[in-house]
Amino acid sequence: MKLLEGKTALITGAARGIGKALALRFAQEGANIAFTDLAIDENGKATEKEIEALGVKVKGYASNAADFAQTKEVVAEVHKDFGSIDILVNNAGITKDGLMMRMTEAQWDAVIAVNLKSAFNFINAVLPIMMRQRGGSIINMASVVGVHGNAGQANYAASKAGLIALAKSIAQEVGSRGIRANAIAPGFIETAMTAALPDDIRAEWVKKIPLRRGGQVGDIADVAVFLASDMSSYVTGQVIQVDGGMNM
Ligand code: NAI
Repeated sequence: MKLLEGKTALITGAARGIGKALALRFAQEGANIAFTDLAIDENGKATEKEIEALGVKVKGYASNAADFAQTKEVVAEVHKDFGSIDILVNNAGITKDGLMMRMTEAQWDAVIAVNLKSAFNFINAVLPIMMRQRGGSIINMASVVGVHGNAGQANYAASKAGLIALAKSIAQEVGSRGIRANAIAPGFIETAMTAALPDDIRAEWVKKIPLRRGGQVGDIADVAVFLASDMSSYVTGQVIQVDGGMNM
């Protein structure tokens, strides 16, 4: 029996990277996949094809997750196309790093809007559907810096801390309706973003990780399957760090 058979998952910002890995892993477990990204370009189309090849229903939707009105429309469309939304992953995210002394209002606003407001937009639109279904699993993609902070990333760390508190609050509000909400806090994950770092900086990072390697997107996807599925039916309001032990 596949862990997510017959469920519909909606994942934001999943044309590439961690979101795409989650979409593929969920599809392997039998879930139908609705995903969003700013545009469904070659990346998005390729993601659709790869998921389709796994024998589930899939559709990519172009939408800006930071836009409240667009999110309402896209969620209604997904609900119409798929009939249910059982799993929501708030994954879309950006960085606009800089030390606080030099951070501009635009850097702050953009990161809070895309990383944190987007999750409000999607949870607000999806909750009524999950309430009617009397069940669902919400996963916010946070970061270890949302737990521990990080110099040069005040905006990003604050947005990720917000995602954690948001998951805990939702968990308390709607637990009685069978809806769970948790956060994943990835550490140093090997993606396009981290591949751009110079070798010596990467080596320094890896030295601080007890498991002595960077994380793979699959490491995050495995934990997401656990949180999305009934395997975690008594787990809510938690933040799971997936960081090779980098922060304890
Ligand atoms: P990525 O940049 O490869 O993928 C993010 C996706 O979100 C892209 O496809 C992008 O087009 C999309 N996106 C950006 N703004 C959007 C918007 N306004 N509306 C809809 N989609 C939008 O990033 P990656 O590495 O896959 O990260 C995914 C999530 O995991 C992010 O929330 C990130 O903060 C988080 N994360 C990543 C870590 C890493 O080491 N890569 C570590 C900790 C957390």
